[in-house]
Amino acid sequence: MKGLIALKSKEDYIERVLYTEEEIATRAKEISAQISEDYKDIAKPLLTVGILNGAVMFYTDVVRRLTIPVQFDFLIASSYDANSHTSGKVNILKNLDNDPKGRDILLVEDIIDSGTTMNFLINYFLDKKANSVKICTLLNKPSRRKVEVKIDYCGFDVPDEFIVGYGLDFAQHYRNLPYLGILNRSVYGGK
Ligand code: IMP
Ligand code: MG
Repeated sequence: MKGLIALKSKEDYIERVLYTEEEIATRAKEISAQISEDYKDIAKPLLTVGILNGAVMFYTDVVRRLTIPVQFDFLIASSYDANSHTSGKVNILKNLDNDPKGRDILLVEDIIDSGTTMNFLINYFLDKKANSVKICTLLNKPSRRKVEVKIDYCGFDVPDEFIVGYGLDFAQHYRNLPYLGILNRSVYGGK
């Protein structure tokens, strides 16, 4: 990434801030309350699965306020290459530590774009005899959908722009920004 080191202020790489830290926190609290309500009669702890690395910030926001019994787990899936083109093929690079059989699973994702990753994971865990699989995503980009996915909990619908921050990266950069912003096209050579 030529020039990355030289970038100094966020104006150099962020076109526009979409959601501030405060707005994200408010939305995450609302979603936690809804999840706690929906699973209030759950028999076994909810298996909350953070999809690494992008969902890590949103995952902690959501799980810390759940009032139901939960267990943590994490998964790494890859369907995207570093140039932001989806490959259409999903690989599980790190699987769950828990057996999904008979469990209620909540997949927590950063963004649903083509839908390929989440569609694959839902079917994968249903094949493994999970009791239920639901999706909680910070962002949804409906205009880019290629595969239909039922989203149970969604932070925000976003436009067809490349978004970074709050866990989301471009080629592993910008994940630590405390807000969500549209990446300036000049960063990745676009017009
Ligand atoms: P999908 O399988 O096409 O839905 O892709 C989902 C994955 O693509 C996400 O988990 C992200 O890693 C990545 N992705 C899609 N859109 C963006 C974006 O705007 N910014 C950062 N990552 C993105
Ligand atoms: Mg991801």
